[in-house]
This record gives sequence, structure tokens and C-alpha cells, in this order.
Amino acid sequence: MNVPINKLLRPTWVEISLSKLRRNYERVRRLAGRRKMMAVIKADAYGHGAVAVANCLAGCGADWFGVASVEEALELRAAGITQPLLLLGGLYMSDPADLIKFQLTPSLSSTARLDTYAECARRYRRPIEFHLKVDTGLGRLGVPPDRLAAFLEHYQTLKGVRLTGLFTHLASAEDLLATQTEEQCERFRAALAQLSSAGIEPAWTHVSNSGALLGRREFPENMVRIGGLLYGCCIPLVVPPGKDLPDLPEFEPVLTFKSCVVYLKDVPSETPLGYGEAFHTRRPSRIATVPVGYADGLNRALSNRGHAIVRGRLARLVGSISMDLSLLDVTDIPGVNVGDEVILMGRSEEASITALDIAQMLDTVPYEVLCLIGKRVPRLYVE
Ligand SMILES: Cc1ncc(COP(=O)(O)O)c(C=O)c1O
Repeated sequence: MNVPINKLLRPTWVEISLSKLRRNYERVRRLAGRRKMMAVIKADAYGHGAVAVANCLAGCGADWFGVASVEEALELRAAGITQPLLLLGGLYMSDPADLIKFQLTPSLSSTARLDTYAECARRYRRPIEFHLKVDTGLGRLGVPPDRLAAFLEHYQTLKGVRLTGLFTHLASAEDLLATQTEEQCERFRAALAQLSSAGIEPAWTHVSNSGALLGRREFPENMVRIGGLLYGCCIPLVVPPGKDLPDLPEFEPVLTFKSCVVYLKDVPSETPLGYGEAFHTRRPSRIATVPVGYADGLNRALSNRGHAIVRGRLARLVGSISMDLSLLDVTDIPGVNVGDEVILMGRSEEASITALDIAQMLDTVPYEVLCLIGKRVPRLYVE
């Protein structure tokens, strides 16, 4: 949904900067070197709007897009995206004929659906290409190394299906102290060698996610699969003591979450605020009401803890955040008026609140904070 700002009926919105997205893409490209680029735009491009992000990154030259489901892929095809699409999650209950009809590439983690794909390919007289996922240690999806030989044996008895990619997903890429990434890399190398001895040379090999790219890890791969960095959202690297962080470009947050002051009141000390009297003023206070709540993705656990930016200064969220409304203590910020802009995530010249700041308060990852921005919040695309 791209609504001009003067047409907003409720003054709560998200601004997505396409120029920052392009700049982040270029930074990722430089780190990736000669490797091709799969932009991960699942979960509505981490809350940024998959169609707009795909259009923008297609213009930058993204080679592939990674999505979680057929539904996500079909939204992109309906919007005219022609780049190859990898279904990272699998096909689930979808009709395999959709793979052919919409030119989608499934990832496969077992032989369970291989026969169905081969049958579908025979019926439509068109090959079905897939990327094989190996589980090198994350333990979610992927053929375990000890079942790879059986998978390949079965695959080689079938016609119409083509293994064109091999990939795996890392569990601890951003932790430069953990040995898990090297172990995963070794298992991936072994899987590639096993394919090679079976006479299979996949056109695409891909392992790196944002953490791996930032940590300058090296894998036998010709493509990277990047989400977070494109959106300017990084999970911080854990670096061994005494070692410096690798020299890294600055990735800029692409998304700003905004609302407005819609009501202002001066209240005496000891005034209860919000459901369940979750806050009592401790001094005469100026309280601003903002039309944003947990249904918009402002997590209720930020009640009495989180902040927003008003007139370049941090104002504390007071009282319990409700479904559609929340309250800010603006007593210390001179000159606040009804209609003033409120930044819930983003930066003004003097202050900033990042998805990572919020995630650390909530004991989660910044991706979750971005993904949970509500569907009803319009996304406005700006240059
Ligand atoms: C299979 C897979 N590949 C790549 C990515 C991209 O990871 P990141 O956003 O950390 O770059 C994800 C994200 O969760 C993923 O699930």
C-alpha cells in the first residue's frame, strides 16, 4: 500500500527510504565481491513491503529473490517480478504444478516430494529445478549429511527433476567466537564433494547470510542470501576479546516508524495513566496521546520502558500501551504541540531509536521488531 502522506486517515505510518535501500544493496554487493546476490524478501521483506522492495532491488540488479512460501512468491509474480524465486521454506500444501506455471524454484530437504515433482514434470513435459538444502547444524530443514547419499541415489533414478542448487543455513554466523560456523562450512564442503563424486555440479551454491558477510567468512559458494543488511538491520557481531571488528561499511536503517501527537494534557502529580493504573505521575506532567498501539507493532512490553522521539528528544512511553493508543511523557520537552511528529523507530538529527535498541529491551532480535509492525500501518516509499 503506497498512500501519499496527505491522504493518511490515521497519522501513523512507516516511511521506507528507497535510496537507503539502494545504498545498502551496493554495500552488500561490494562485500559479496564476485558472488551473485539473492535478496531475502520473505515476511513482506521483513515488514518493508515485498513488492516495493523487490521492484527497487530488481532495478539494482538483484539476481534472485528468496521467499518463505508460494503465497509470497505469487504476490511477486502478480506484481510483475521476473527474477528467479527460491522458496526457502518449501512447498507445503501447494500444488507442484504452480512451480511450473509460475516458474518457482523449490528448496528440497528430503525425498518425500521428489517423486511428486518428477510426476508433475512428466505430466507437463517441463523440468522442475530445485535447490537441495543440507542441514549442516541448524537443525530446522535440510537433508542430514548421513542421508545425503540415499537422497542422491533416489534422485538419480528420476527424470524431469534437476538439482541446480545446493545450500545450507548458518546457526551462529555473527558469533565470531563460536566454532559452529567452521563446522557447518566443513559439512557443506563434504556435501558438495559428495555431489561431485555422484557427477552432480550444481550451478548455484549459497551459504552466507548477513552475519557471515559481515564477519567476512569464506564458503565454497557463488551466491549470498542476504536479508537484514539490506534493510540496515544488523545483529551485532560477537568478536573474540582483543580482536578488532572487521572494517565494515555503515548500513543505514531503511525504515522509520512514525506517528503524531493527537492530544495533550497537563496533569498533577499522582495521576494514574492507562489501563490498570500502570503508571502514576510523580510530578505535574505534560502527557501526549499518540495513535499507535500494540496492534501496530508497538510491543506492549515497552510500556513504561520504551521511548519515542519528539522534537529531537527522547520521551518516555508511560502507562500501558493499548491496542491503538499510547502515552508519552513530554514534560521536559519544550513547545510540544498537537500535530507534532513522533518517531517510534528511526532518527532525528539529535536522537535515534533503532530496531536493535527495541529488540534489546524486549530480549529478542531486531528482525522480529520489524516483522511485527502491523499490517494496518501504511508503508510510504520515499527517495
Ligand atoms: C534460509 C535463510 N537464508 C537467508 C536468510 C537471510 O538472513 P539475514 O537476514 O540474516 O541475512 C534467512 C533469514 O532468516 C533464511 O531463513
